[in-house]
Amino acid sequence: MESIYIHGGIRLQGQVRIQGSKNAVLPVLAATILTKGKNTIRNCPKLTDVFCMQTLLKNIGCRIHFHGTDLKVDATDVDLLRVSGRLKGEAVCSMRSSITLLGALLGRFGEAYLEYPGGCVIGERPIDIHLMALEKFGVTFEEDAGGIHAFTKGLTGTNVKLPFPSVGATENIVLTGVSARGKTVIEGAAREPEIVSLCEFLRLAGAKIYGDGTERIEIEGGLPLHGTEYAVPGDRIVAGTYMCACLAAGGEVFLREAPTEQMARQLYCAEQMGARWQTEKDGLYVQMSERPCAVPYIRTEPYPGFPTDMQSLFLAVAAVAKGECLMEETIFENRFHILPYLEKMGAEIEIIDTNKVRVKGVDTLQGNLVEAKELRGGAALIVAGIAAKDITIVEGCKYIERGYENICRDLRELGVRIYGV
Ligand code: EPZ
Repeated sequence: MESIYIHGGIRLQGQVRIQGSKNAVLPVLAATILTKGKNTIRNCPKLTDVFCMQTLLKNIGCRIHFHGTDLKVDATDVDLLRVSGRLKGEAVCSMRSSITLLGALLGRFGEAYLEYPGGCVIGERPIDIHLMALEKFGVTFEEDAGGIHAFTKGLTGTNVKLPFPSVGATENIVLTGVSARGKTVIEGAAREPEIVSLCEFLRLAGAKIYGDGTERIEIEGGLPLHGTEYAVPGDRIVAGTYMCACLAAGGEVFLREAPTEQMARQLYCAEQMGARWQTEKDGLYVQMSERPCAVPYIRTEPYPGFPTDMQSLFLAVAAVAKGECLMEETIFENRFHILPYLEKMGAEIEIIDTNKVRVKGVDTLQGNLVEAKELRGGAALIVAGIAAKDITIVEGCKYIERGYENICRDLRELGVRIYGV
């Protein structure tokens, strides 16, 4: 699918099931490498990043296939030769979370070669914190033009204090720690729900991990890990995306399997905008009767703060809200790619600084031709198109498919006139 067409200005009405979480399932798939057996990952979203991880796991000897929405992964016969040879050639796709393979491969084989995961348009995406932490386990790195060769004579548990609660680095340390001899303590760990998901999977496989979801995680390493079954929770960012569509265009929606307990800060902002919401037994009900009121100041922060992945989505809502919103992005250095396109649709935006913008809401946006430059910005342009008058065409949909199984199908279930070509 190349482009998405939206006929905006229609209030939303309907219900949709929220897909499994992309950012939870990717590290769990990397963790299957550490299990000597068969795993069933339930509610696995069918996304390009998941297919990419599937290819990487297959290339190192995992038997892996979808069975409905369950992804079955048998990591019994993963072998080293294929690992060191293959990961050079097969690249690690353009997928950021492939760096999490480093911890898993070192844990299973004591060696890995990965091409640099590379930056992307939202930021440089360095991996210095990952490398610093893994060195403390006794890992040696040799870097060449294309990537990193990592190896160890044996992983030993250690204490790591993170300078920043990096999600990916916390995941890598957990994956290395469960394989290391002795105890590992992480201070300043990321607290995102995706960390808890990874640790839940590993505990089901036989690991002993405590404190996930807090800043201090303790791991008793070196225990044998067996295959297991794990159900991926709903995706908090996909649920937030559809909630923002309702906030921007008005209406009422029911988001089945939305992980409401992981969305507190988003819901607080939605309430400030004038939305009514309530948790039902199997999902989240959201109603927006009036034009949204602007939230005066939103600052992105590590979890449980306001999620950076929701920043562009709330900018799109702010573009049609009553009043002004000051948005500050503190996680990534370049995450305002949608500004010129929102302005092309009639939004009034003032750039205060490289990481701070002020949006003055307008009564209505005008549909126009816009382009996605990255995943969440692309989704935000769709939300803007849903609120706008007339037709909006969003190009660059390959970025959006990395995080949304079928955003057109889902939004049509909520009454949006949208289709992809
Ligand atoms: C994860 O990225 C998510 N990706 C991102 O979601 C999410 O935005 C981010 O966490 C923050 O919540 C996946 O889970 C696959 P970080 P990650 O390490 O692990 C800097 C999406 O839209 N940093 O917490 O890469 C880094 O440059 C994606 O689904 C270092 O400086 O995030 C960034 O500025 C986008 N050195 C900040 O920390 C390091 O070694 C946050 O990065 C690592 C990170």
